[in-house]
Amino acid sequence: MPMKKQIKKWSGRFNEPVDQLVQDYTASVNFDKRLAAYDIEGSLAHSEMLQKQKIISVSDFNKIKKGLLQINELIKENKFEWKIADEDVHLNIEKKLTELIGDAGKKLHTGRSRNDQIATDLRLYLRDATDSIVKKIITLQKNLLSFAKKNIGVSMPGLTHLQIAQPISFAHHLHAYFEMLERDKKRFIDARKRINQLPLGAAALAGTTYPIDRKWVAKKLKFEGVCNNSLDAVSDRDFAIEFCFHASLLMTHLSRFSEELIMWMSPFFNFIEISDRFCTGSSIMPQKKNPDVPELVRGKVGRTNGNLMALLTLMKSQPLAYNKDNQEDKEPVFDSVDTLEATLVIYADMIKNIKVNKEKMMAAAGDGFSTATDLADYLVKKGMPFRTSHEVVAELVNFAIKNKLDLHEITLDTFKHYSKLIDKDIYDVITVEGSVQARNHVGGTNTQTVANAIKLAEQSLSKKGS
Ligand code: ARG
Repeated sequence: MPMKKQIKKWSGRFNEPVDQLVQDYTASVNFDKRLAAYDIEGSLAHSEMLQKQKIISVSDFNKIKKGLLQINELIKENKFEWKIADEDVHLNIEKKLTELIGDAGKKLHTGRSRNDQIATDLRLYLRDATDSIVKKIITLQKNLLSFAKKNIGVSMPGLTHLQIAQPISFAHHLHAYFEMLERDKKRFIDARKRINQLPLGAAALAGTTYPIDRKWVAKKLKFEGVCNNSLDAVSDRDFAIEFCFHASLLMTHLSRFSEELIMWMSPFFNFIEISDRFCTGSSIMPQKKNPDVPELVRGKVGRTNGNLMALLTLMKSQPLAYNKDNQEDKEPVFDSVDTLEATLVIYADMIKNIKVNKEKMMAAAGDGFSTATDLADYLVKKGMPFRTSHEVVAELVNFAIKNKLDLHEITLDTFKHYSKLIDKDIYDVITVEGSVQARNHVGGTNTQTVANAIKLAEQSLSKKGS
C-alpha cells in the first residue's frame, strides 16, 4: 500500500492536517526546549543500550551518536532552529537527527515513547537542579553563620505576638534560620532519591516487546534504580510536586526572615541597615531607602506556592497512565527552580552586607519589662509556686508602669513590699545579660550555648554531602 505523505511524526492515521490553532495550543517546544541537553543525554544512553542488546546495528548507533552530538553543539551555539510544527523538544531533535543521518535516525525511538522520554528528561533536569540548589543553600547557611558569629555578644528583644517577650541573643535568632535551612536542605537531599529512578523502558505505558536492559541505562545515566511499574513511571509527577513543595517551604522560611529584615530596617526599629546595593529609592520621596530585595522574596512565595498548587491540581484525578495534562508541569517547575536559585544567590550576598545597629538593638532588649519572667523564676527558685510568683510580678509590673520605672529602677524596699523573698541579688537576675546567660541548656540563648551550636553547624556544613 502506498505511504501517505507524512504530515507529522505520528500522523499516518490522520486524514487532514492538525489545525494551526490546535498546533499552537498543544506545542510545548517553546518551554521544553530547556530540557534539550537531558533529552540528548537520555537518547544517547537509550541508543547505546539498543545497540548493546543487538536491537539496532553498531553502524546505526554510531550514526545516531554522531548526529545527536552534532545537534547538541548546534543547540549550545544557539544555531538550532526550533519549530512549533514539530511540537516538542523530543520531536524537534528526532526530526533533525533523521535530516542529518537519514534512516538510522528513525530507529532511535525503537522501544521508547515520548511518555517515558519526558519523564526521564524531567527527572534528569530536577536531579541537577536539586544539586545546584543544595549547594546554594549551603552558601547561604555559611554566610548566615558568619553573620551570627560577628554578632555573638549582641542581645535583642525576643518577640512573641510581635510584643516584647524575653531578651535573646541576636546570633541565636539567626541560628534559628540556619536550622530551618538545614531541614530544607535535607528535604531536597532526601527527595533526590525519589527523583533519581529511571522511567525509560516503560515506553508508552505497558513496557516494550524488545529485549531492553533498563538497569544498564539506569547505570549509564547515574540513576539509583528503575521505576518498578511502567504505568506509574510514565504518569506520576509526585517527584516534581515534592520538589515544588520543598521550594515553597524554603521560600516560606526566607519570607519570614525577609519580613523581619524589613521590620528591623524600618526607622521604628532601626536595628539594621541593608547595604545600598540591595535597596532602591523612591521616585517621589527623596528620603526613602526601600528594602526591595526582602520584599520581593516575601512576594515571590506567591509564585512558588502557585506553582505547587498548579502541579497538585494538574495531577488530581488523572487516570492511569500518561495524559497530556502532564505537559503543564514544565513551566511551574522551571519557575520554581529559577525563583529559588535567584533568591538563594541574592540572599547569600545580602546577608553578608547587613550592618547591625548594636547599641539600638541591645538597648531595646531591655525594654518592655522583658526580664519579668526572670523575676518570676527567681521567686520560684526561692520557694514560691510559679502561678503565685506570676501574679506577684504582674503586680510589680503594674506598679512600674504607673510610676514610669523600669524593673531595675524599683527599690529593694518596694520589691520587699511585694515579696519578702526578694533580696538585692535580684538586680543581677533582671538584667538583659543575666536573663540571656541564664538560659544555658541545649537550644537556649546563652552566648556560649549559641557559640557551641554555631560550631556544630559549621562542622556539619564542612562534612561531605551535608
Ligand atoms: N510534550 C509532552 C509532555 O510534556 C511529551 C509527551 C507527549 N506524549 C504524548 N503521548 N503526546 O508531556
